[in-house]
Amino acid sequence: MAQPTVYVTRVIARQGLDLLRDAAALTVWEKKELMPRHLQLAHFANCDGLLTTPDIPVDDALLTACPSLRAVSNHAVGFDNIDVAACTRRGIAVGNTPGVLSETTADLAFAMILAAARRVTELADWIKQDRWTPEVGLLENLGVDVHHATLGIIGMGRIGREVAGRAVGFRMNILYHNRNRDAQAEKEFGAAYAPKEELLRQSDFVSLHLPLTAQTRHYIARRELGLMKSSAILVNTGRGQLVNQNALLQALKNGEIAGAGLDVTDPEPMRGDDPLLLMPQVTVLPHIGSATRQTRIKMAETAARNLINALSGKPMVSCVNPEAVGRGRDAGRTP
Ligand code: GLV
Repeated sequence: MAQPTVYVTRVIARQGLDLLRDAAALTVWEKKELMPRHLQLAHFANCDGLLTTPDIPVDDALLTACPSLRAVSNHAVGFDNIDVAACTRRGIAVGNTPGVLSETTADLAFAMILAAARRVTELADWIKQDRWTPEVGLLENLGVDVHHATLGIIGMGRIGREVAGRAVGFRMNILYHNRNRDAQAEKEFGAAYAPKEELLRQSDFVSLHLPLTAQTRHYIARRELGLMKSSAILVNTGRGQLVNQNALLQALKNGEIAGAGLDVTDPEPMRGDDPLLLMPQVTVLPHIGSATRQTRIKMAETAARNLINALSGKPMVSCVNPEAVGRGRDAGRTP
């Protein structure tokens, strides 16, 4: 039987590509520049499967241009670049890579908490600028304690829970806000559930671990920033659009909050002349939450397995729309 045709939209770890090469007729977009939209439409047209990266919008127009498509596997835990409802209507399975990156992303969230609290990037820059002189006063380089402070975790999913586990080691008080109460997290980490407003009012650090959806876009905006302590630090390792970035800039300028650690921005990439970068109390990283060698290999393998499974009629390792299977264009096909 002919192998399914698969397109991979960026170079991913070799381990994932090797798995796919054994199971499919594979094409990889190997150029450094992102794949232009007109080439996506042309190259994906006859594909059975796509392994996408978050820079590829899988929308209705693209799906219409790809009548053979049976599975889309996103190389990310987030899938806000994919119109899942449109995929489901067409019987196209959508996969993602949760779990394998939770600890790695939580490590980075903690790095941002520590960096913002202790002014790590700002004070490291002082040395490069020759500002570390004997005259620097004992009260000029002060940060704030992380240990015993209150951490507000918004979104107690896999990554939120890993952040809570790390916070226990720092003897932090943990508040969390989530759609549902999480009895396990309450027991394991001593985390206390708080309504959103209460969490914002009480936390010294607020860390965002929500998926980006129409409901969570600008989850933190002017009103929310106004509720936070003037000494509070906002950390975002989720998606840039969870935060209204103009409101954040204003809140920082007005001293409504003390600082921010952002691994994700709106838009991405953030340009070097963004006004947020002029604020010493803001640390911005180029979306590296899952960017370790080990984790990127696991993500590539999971994304490849998702696609291989779906194209051979088996359940994906992680499918975000299991209800798609057996519907629409997939119905009646023999694997
Ligand atoms: C990265 O941002 C991911 O969603 O995996």
